[in-house]
Amino acid sequence: MAQVKANQPKIILGIETSCDETAAAVCQKTEQGVKILSNIVASSANLQAKYGGVIPEQAAREQLKFIIPVINESLRVSGFSKQDIDAIAVTQGPGLIGSLLVGVETAKVLATVWNKPLVPINHLLGHFYANWIAPNSPTFPCIGLLVSGGHTDLVLFKSHGKYEYLGGTRDDAAGECFDKSARLLNLPYPGGPEIAKLAQNGNPQAFKLPRPMINLNNFDFSFSGLKTAVGNLVTELSSQQTTLKTKADIAASLEAAIVDVLVNKTLKAVKKYQVKQVILAGGVAANQKLNEKFTTAVREKLTHVTLFIPPPKLCTDNAVYIATAAFYNYHPANSLTLQANPNLSLQLP
Ligand code: KG4
Ligand code: ZN
Repeated sequence: MAQVKANQPKIILGIETSCDETAAAVCQKTEQGVKILSNIVASSANLQAKYGGVIPEQAAREQLKFIIPVINESLRVSGFSKQDIDAIAVTQGPGLIGSLLVGVETAKVLATVWNKPLVPINHLLGHFYANWIAPNSPTFPCIGLLVSGGHTDLVLFKSHGKYEYLGGTRDDAAGECFDKSARLLNLPYPGGPEIAKLAQNGNPQAFKLPRPMINLNNFDFSFSGLKTAVGNLVTELSSQQTTLKTKADIAASLEAAIVDVLVNKTLKAVKKYQVKQVILAGGVAANQKLNEKFTTAVREKLTHVTLFIPPPKLCTDNAVYIATAAFYNYHPANSLTLQANPNLSLQLP
């Protein structure tokens, strides 16, 4: 059971503004793990949907509108006041610079005025901490698969903040492949949940789509060819009548191809590094088919392995995992000089 040390924070206010979600959360470290006291997310995704994707300047303007009300609401719902907060955690990067600046500069002002430590968090590392919510937490070593809108990365975690980067996508991320393919099918943004919904009525074997790099002996991914294959299929079929059923079949076939690659490569890493735990993270981890395929594969082939998948609400962007990551990676920065960094990655810990 995790011990809460006297000099460690017990209550953290997390702030996340890397893209088109403005999020704030208050979390508490307890003997059983991290408890969520509030989790507020305002999204401009509906507005972005009108344009078929995120327009950075517009996303930043929406962040500005939401940031103070969202922070206030997170404190109100938690029942705690600013006096009770021991530290502020904020997403430093990666992400859209305009959006990141809103969160980072707000956090710097609050940390300075309220006289609280300020903890910068790498958004990508942060995503994994959606798995460290009470009462269950993973143990080390474990394999982590991050599948978000811009990233597909496999890492071997050795302890908190210490990991080996095993591989990642060479082009499009899995989420990007969902989003871009959805556009080809005239589905709204964000495309992942739309493809998943449509796929429920489709046949995953209807079209034979490629499983890029599935058999290569490394932990890299490539999804842009898969998106191109969907594009070619759409062009080919548009000369005939493309019914809703055909679209559903394409969606199901695409979802099956992405899921196959992700499950296959992750299990290869589990076997190679002989770990007993796997943690998933990022928006695509909210995908039900991915969840089912991972669960079945682990149950049938790796009975000694425990699989952690956060609830869908914690897979997509939120500030709970930012606050949680800060409890376990407590490295306060200078609250006057901290800079947002849109280029942070997992490759340079
Ligand atoms: O982690 P996230 O919320 O934001 C980033 O940090 O990028 O991930 C967003 C991505 C988008 O590509 C979205 O289409 C995808 O996650 N996504 C899904 C599902 N829910 C969100 N993809 C497939 N199935 C879903 N249910
Ligand atoms: Zn994210």
